Amino acid sequence: MTASLITVSYIAAAILFILSLGGLSSQETARRGNFYGILGMAIALIATAATPGVEGYAMLAGAIIPGVLIGGFLAQRVAMTSMPELVAILHSFVGLAAVLVGFASYLGPQPQLTAVEMTIHEVEIFVGIFVGAITFTGSIIAFAKLRGSLSGKPLMLPARHMLNLGMVVGSLVLGYMFIDAGHTVTDGGNPAGLMPLLIMTGIACVIGVHMVMAIGGADMPVVVSMLNSYSGWAAAAAGFMLSNDLLIITGALVGSSGAILSYIMCAAMNRSFISVILGGFGSDGGAPKGPAQVVEGEAVPTDVEAVVGYLKEANSIIIIPGYGMAVAQAQHSLSEIVKILRKEKKKVRFGIHPVAGRLPGHMNVLLAEANVPYDIVLEMDELNDDFPRTDIALVIGANDIVNPSALDDPNSPIAGMPVLECWKSGKTVVMKRSMGTGYAGVQNPLFFKDNTEMLFGDAKKNVDAMLAELRK
Ligand code: TAP
Repeated sequence: MTASLITVSYIAAAILFILSLGGLSSQETARRGNFYGILGMAIALIATAATPGVEGYAMLAGAIIPGVLIGGFLAQRVAMTSMPELVAILHSFVGLAAVLVGFASYLGPQPQLTAVEMTIHEVEIFVGIFVGAITFTGSIIAFAKLRGSLSGKPLMLPARHMLNLGMVVGSLVLGYMFIDAGHTVTDGGNPAGLMPLLIMTGIACVIGVHMVMAIGGADMPVVVSMLNSYSGWAAAAAGFMLSNDLLIITGALVGSSGAILSYIMCAAMNRSFISVILGGFGSDGGAPKGPAQVVEGEAVPTDVEAVVGYLKEANSIIIIPGYGMAVAQAQHSLSEIVKILRKEKKKVRFGIHPVAGRLPGHMNVLLAEANVPYDIVLEMDELNDDFPRTDIALVIGANDIVNPSALDDPNSPIAGMPVLECWKSGKTVVMKRSMGTGYAGVQNPLFFKDNTEMLFGDAKKNVDAMLAELRK
């Protein structure tokens, strides 16, 4: 391929990536967005492989073909609920790639550069390896936490702020030593900068581990999108090292969109963005100022017939799905129930909390899969004011996102998190298997409110039974 054709291909791929991100921002256009992304990546790969000077196609095929097969196989098999784990481990690969590219750039044949350009090149290498190593180990810890292999509890070392600060300052000093040493060769035949680079890599790996270990379970979604952002910046740094414009653009797109998503999620969970990003620096750590209120009372159990009776009498209904609906896979039968209720001219809407389930957009994906019309699936902010005018709120496998103590109890671990205020509706029915807590491990006073009834059991079983009852 000629240089100009490669430039045109890169520009086309960059435009497709931007269109892809735009498409992915709404359910109606998400498929198209995905297609643009695939097309852009295919163009990028072909153009890069066809760049003059690229050789060793057998080696390239030996890396790409197994990668495509393993990736395709894993993506086909992964359950929707395990998606965050998959995303986390994929981020670790990006981080590792940035580290390896950094070392290869440093140890490989050096380009002809002026002194200033060489310093810039060395800064790129240092920053790329630093961000890549943090992303690599941080993502592995996030993967292990999301899988449950590691406890979701935050690791609160006594002097953790000082430890983090010490490691960052140490890395800066090593950065100075690395750039100062440049490519002068030691007696042992190695470049003098190699030792500070290796020590910094070790420190950055520890920062990655410590940063994610310090973050509690309820903040994990933010961590995954934050690592997504880090992996983008690591890729952009690799793009600078390799002088590949497309990699710089793609990395910057991933880096900034991940940062924006982290920010939006922090707002949805009322966590401080800075404290999450810095993994404990100045963290409120979610630490309560006193003991959380004791939640007690008696929950009122109900049964399928009674709930169907309430639905038949109601004119306006809001359904709030949560993680339990995803686990039970109740969305298809639920969609049938909604069809019947809408045929009877009832106003039925879904209320979606930004962090319902276990990954951004989790509920939207499941409801779209079950062909629930998009226009009745509303964001929390769009219908929180409507609960007082709603006859019944049906909570299906959700818990933390409908917990009133987030608003009422300043000492609750989820204090300040915006929630769906379903208890303000005429009646609330909560469908879950037990009185157990949700992801954040917090008791829920909603279950004991006067106008709340509990329909215990697996969400799929109960929704199926409700559907059968409605069809009678
Ligand atoms: P949770 O608070 O985790 O509550 C889910 C509830 O579903 C549980 O209390 C469980 O109660 C019930 N459940 C589980 N399996 C069920 C089944 N088969 N049938 C019926 N019920 C079942 O979920 P949520 O309300 O969706 O809130 C999400 C939480 O996850 C938040 O704390 C959020 O911060 C966190 N988080 C979110 C994300 C993103 S980005 N969405 C990622 C990671 C973490 P029983 O055991 O009694 O059935």
